[in-house]
Amino acid sequence: MLILGIETSCDETAAAVVADGVKILSSAVSSQVELHNPYGGVVPELASRKHLEAIVPLTDEAIRKAGIKKKDMDAIAVTQGPGLIGALLIGFSFAKAYSYALGIPYIGVDHLKGHINSVFLEPDPPGFPFVALLVSGGHTSIYYVRSHIETELMGQTRDDAAGEAFDKVAKMLGLGYPGGGIIDRIAPQGNPDKIAFPRTYLDKDGFDFSFSGIKTAVNRYIQTHAKTYHQEIPDIVAGFQEAVADVLSYKSVHAAKEKGCEHIAVVGGVAANRRLREKITQAAQAQGLAVHIPAFHLCGDNAAMIAAVGYHYLKNGIVSDMDTDVYSRAQL
Ligand code: KG4
Ligand code: ZN
Repeated sequence: MLILGIETSCDETAAAVVADGVKILSSAVSSQVELHNPYGGVVPELASRKHLEAIVPLTDEAIRKAGIKKKDMDAIAVTQGPGLIGALLIGFSFAKAYSYALGIPYIGVDHLKGHINSVFLEPDPPGFPFVALLVSGGHTSIYYVRSHIETELMGQTRDDAAGEAFDKVAKMLGLGYPGGGIIDRIAPQGNPDKIAFPRTYLDKDGFDFSFSGIKTAVNRYIQTHAKTYHQEIPDIVAGFQEAVADVLSYKSVHAAKEKGCEHIAVVGGVAANRRLREKITQAAQAQGLAVHIPAFHLCGDNAAMIAAVGYHYLKNGIVSDMDTDVYSRAQL
């Protein structure tokens, strides 16, 4: 079965063709980072306009690169939410119209389920049930995953998402946007133990997160070392990254042990973080658990993960009707 995936929930326009929910035939992503960079964050109205410009050529590119014809496709899977309403509407309306024109079904897919399923686009996927740590710019949650489409929320952040904390810390230090990749590149030059930033575990047996404390601690450090912090940027970001990675690793391993799962998936934009990948792998291996983290290009937003989920809905006879609408807030 061939599924066309469409993703426009935030600042990436993406289209992909995936066969049988596992094989990526093409995956095109057009990033808007340059567009939003001067503003230090995503400007929703600009994002929508850019999606509108990009969606048709990008879809054509995905179909051409997959080496298929439009009539070969079985369905279109499109991100329904959560995300920016205006941005979601571009992809969603396009998918509805395109499916109507082609006479094939379309399927609204949850973006977070997309991230969770990104591990199935890799050669060695986890067995069910498993625990998934979802770390992105908008969400930080732990799920107990029963099947491709059945997830149970175990805990989530009470304030900032991990990616948001990376972005805000980078902004405080004047490093640019988005901050995660920048911090990832600078941190190896610093000493992660030089400045001790707080690790907020909340309840050590619970699975909720809080990242506002560490963000405030970094801000306080900058204020109290206003004259010298410029020379300490590598140590500051290394210390910050280490603290965040410690908490994420601890909670994920703890969640897998509580649920008796042998597999942990780490997904979402922040799963691209090299120190987090290393730490969580070590922490899990020490407990005899297997860790599944997608390749870097599948951690950030992409449409292949959306197509992968769409396949499982279609296989179960679930498709969306024309009255279906987008949603902005997480429903998982
Ligand atoms: O999943 P994603 O592409 O979009 C959302 O659904 O939010 O995640 C974007 C987030 C941003 O906050 C970005 O700074 C962060 O992922 N990010 C990283 C890295 N690459 C992207 N954070 C830490 N280390 C990275 N290498
Ligand atoms: Zn995402």
